[in-house]
Amino acid sequence: VMQAAGKLMKVFLTRRIPPEGMKILSAAGVCEVSLWDSDEPVPREELLKGVQGAHGLLCLLSDKIDAEVLDAAGPNLKVISTLSVGFDHMALDEIKKRGIRVGYTPDVLTDATAELTVALLLATARRLPEGVEEVKNGGWSSWKPLWLCGYGLSGSTVGVIGLGRIGMAIAQRLKPFGVKKLLYSGRTAKAHAAEVNGEFVPLDTLVSESDFIVVSCSLTPETQGLCDKAFFSKMKKTAVFVNSSRGAVVNQEDLYEALTTGQIAAAGLDVTTPEPLPTNHPLLTLKNCVVLPHIGSATYSTRGIMAALSARNLLGGLQGTDMPSELNF
Ligand code: NDP
Ligand code: DGY
Repeated sequence: VMQAAGKLMKVFLTRRIPPEGMKILSAAGVCEVSLWDSDEPVPREELLKGVQGAHGLLCLLSDKIDAEVLDAAGPNLKVISTLSVGFDHMALDEIKKRGIRVGYTPDVLTDATAELTVALLLATARRLPEGVEEVKNGGWSSWKPLWLCGYGLSGSTVGVIGLGRIGMAIAQRLKPFGVKKLLYSGRTAKAHAAEVNGEFVPLDTLVSESDFIVVSCSLTPETQGLCDKAFFSKMKKTAVFVNSSRGAVVNQEDLYEALTTGQIAAAGLDVTTPEPLPTNHPLLTLKNCVVLPHIGSATYSTRGIMAALSARNLLGGLQGTDMPSELNF
């Protein structure tokens, strides 16, 4: 059992996590765990306090890990393990400067997130929330030929922005719905695109030709605000926009305008800025906008596996051994 100067190493967890992760940490017997014992985010001051002297930090996508946090932690900090595949909440340059290793949770949440994205796409395109509401409020008077019509995938062109792990899993799930053409964009063409007959095209082509646009790229300085006024104005008026990556990829004012002026048909968002989206946000007044509370990876099983992986990543970093999923940066 490896210990720091004969004592247990100190780790700080910024939230309650599923028991699958806690069990692994306690069974290892190498660290003393303190945590923000809540389902709600740790206040900034508590994070800065909790991290002091820690050898390891297990964080969530809602925790901004910047120079201030790293300085508060001090020189003991060897590893940061995030309970997410996205890492846009962490200042990687500052982390690298201090020689700290980073663990994350790729692959294990790919299926759950792709499944949710397909559900969101179908719910948005076929107007499910509106339909459910009409059943409850008495708006359902009869079967009507022109009522609650939407858009179908069969024979359509789908554009995936960011054909990575999740984008690919979304494409694989959409194909059997009868998608005719699968376009994708990104920095580089992907060999795995052949499995879904994916065609690598410039972003402009994808935007103007797609009936459904799915955003599944990572949030980077390059993708921040990518979906803006110019983007939406190139889309077909009958096209449906879906985002399950990060809210900041979308300019929400421009999206609101595109949805209210009929520039695009509908939008489904699993991610927003900020999160939570204020309940009085203009987007929430629109029937053609379906907003979910960032639940892409939320299956019981996936969250348990994510917790276990993040615990193993943390232990690997503490002990200076392999981490099952170490971020190379
Ligand atoms: P990957 O790294 O496998 O995929 C990210 C993709 O983004 C890559 O294919 C990359 O393509 C692409 N990309 C990067 N820059 C650009 C760009 N400028 N334009 C278009 N595409 C770009 O990650 P995952 O698929 O595992 O996860 C993707 C993201 O999904 C995460 O970063 C996270 O933000 C989000 N996510 C959301 C969840 C939710 O609950 N809604 C759950 C899990 C993840 P290239 O290699 O060509 O750069
Ligand atoms: C991630 O992992 O980045 C998601 O947003 C939550 O699972």
